[in-house]
Amino acid sequence: MPVPSDTPLLLLHGFPMDARMWRYTTDHFRPMRPVIAPNVADLVGDGPSMAAMAHAALEALERAAPGEPAVVIGLSMGGYIAAEFVRSHPDRLAGLVMCDTRAGAESAEGRAGRDTMIDAVRRYGVTHGTAPLVERMLHDPPRALMSEVEAMVEQQDPEVVIACIEAMRDRRDNMAAIRSLTAPFVVIAGEYDELAPRLVEEALAHLTPHGRYVEIPRSGHVPPLENPEAFNAALEEFLVPSS
Ligand code: MLT
Repeated sequence: MPVPSDTPLLLLHGFPMDARMWRYTTDHFRPMRPVIAPNVADLVGDGPSMAAMAHAALEALERAAPGEPAVVIGLSMGGYIAAEFVRSHPDRLAGLVMCDTRAGAESAEGRAGRDTMIDAVRRYGVTHGTAPLVERMLHDPPRALMSEVEAMVEQQDPEVVIACIEAMRDRRDNMAAIRSLTAPFVVIAGEYDELAPRLVEEALAHLTPHGRYVEIPRSGHVPPLENPEAFNAALEEFLVPSS
């Protein structure tokens, strides 16, 4: 089912980055559709929870396109926000794209890891505190891309980063919300994503009978930056499927 051609795209980025992560996606789609790509720093004001961030994302959509539904596209942490959006604002959803992410709550082991990372960010700053994650994000990256991501991470506000880690640690299980989804749905994932492996991504796609799974070659956890051509093509095919 194609998504109407003027439907806005709401892009929710991954951690510990910002909306620059979507630069090739926005460059490609902005001439065709409204694209709203908030920074999480502007979404955490109401408190560190995915539900509050989803509500703030809805407000950003409302400012740009009052009353309109959007295709919500969330990468990793952005997918956790998108899953809350599905749960709380299904009437504003024209389609859902989950990238390299999950819909379940954090495991006990994962929660402990989040606490360790919060402590490390407090003690040593964002770059050192998040290094164990950032080092595993990209698959065999060219030096220029790695430097770009490292610079983006370094520029993040430690308080915002800590709020995001708390929200990821405490996120709810939203699998039931995804199961009840009737809007078009696709999972797009990097072939070599170590942080959200293929089996997890396929299971996410199959939570609904109509969910599709698309793999992006030559990419790790961040396909919109690692293989933007293939990522944009997958998104285009979802928005306007060829017959
Ligand atoms: C992200 O890319 O947003 C993070 O890997 C999410 C997470 O740590 O769960």
